[in-house]
Amino acid sequence: MRTPIIAGNWKMHNTIAAALELVKGIHYGLPWPGEVEVIVAPPTTAISKVADFLQDSYIQVAGQDLFWEESGAYTGEISGTLLQDAGASAVIIGHSERRQYFHETDATVNKKIKAALALQLMPIVCVGETLAEREAGQVTEVVRTQILEGLAGLTTAEVTDLVIAYEPIWAIGTGKTATPQQAEDVHVIIRHIIAEQFGNDAADAVRILYGGSVKPANSKELLSLPNVDGALVGGASLKAADFIEIIKSVS
Ligand code: PGA
Repeated sequence: MRTPIIAGNWKMHNTIAAALELVKGIHYGLPWPGEVEVIVAPPTTAISKVADFLQDSYIQVAGQDLFWEESGAYTGEISGTLLQDAGASAVIIGHSERRQYFHETDATVNKKIKAALALQLMPIVCVGETLAEREAGQVTEVVRTQILEGLAGLTTAEVTDLVIAYEPIWAIGTGKTATPQQAEDVHVIIRHIIAEQFGNDAADAVRILYGGSVKPANSKELLSLPNVDGALVGGASLKAADFIEIIKSVS
């Protein structure tokens, strides 16, 4: 039984005050969501205040990225240890915006996943194809490479502990969502890749979230798919009412 996850990726939005207002809206608007894990990923500057507010809440806090070294002369970087110190228990890794704008590769994603796992910071690892790759029929190939290289060297137990987010790049922030069939198909492919590489137990246990223009109007359908174990929500996670609607649509 895979417990669903609804995670909100706030990206580079919200001052500390705005972040607190948003998280209060979610916390008080939905006192107990039942069997679903809820995670918010504020910008780094707001993590500590948000985590302090959520100390006794069911909502967990994630970082949006980390660097693989624990400490040192790496100006501008944030380590897993520092994220944990601020109150995070999870971290998004390899988001397509990091890959596109900050030159992250499957090799750096791999180092980041290992660093997070070593600290028991739950990695939410993002994979997904561009529109050109989809149109060229390369979805399986692209996702396979991202998973095999990103998860290289991990044990079955480690794969079980992480979360994969399938986010077709053409659906992120565009208002275009994958159809339920498109999402389910790729989630099945991802589970097969995990099974081949890490065994059936890992494939059965690993949670695979869908991301890309998830909103209240489409979340019920997407979240009812057998291989979709939750959602990574960008834009719609910035409004408490919309995020709550999405959480409630987990059946
Ligand atoms: P979106 O973003 O929901 O705004 O499309 C999703 C994401 O980037 O994680």
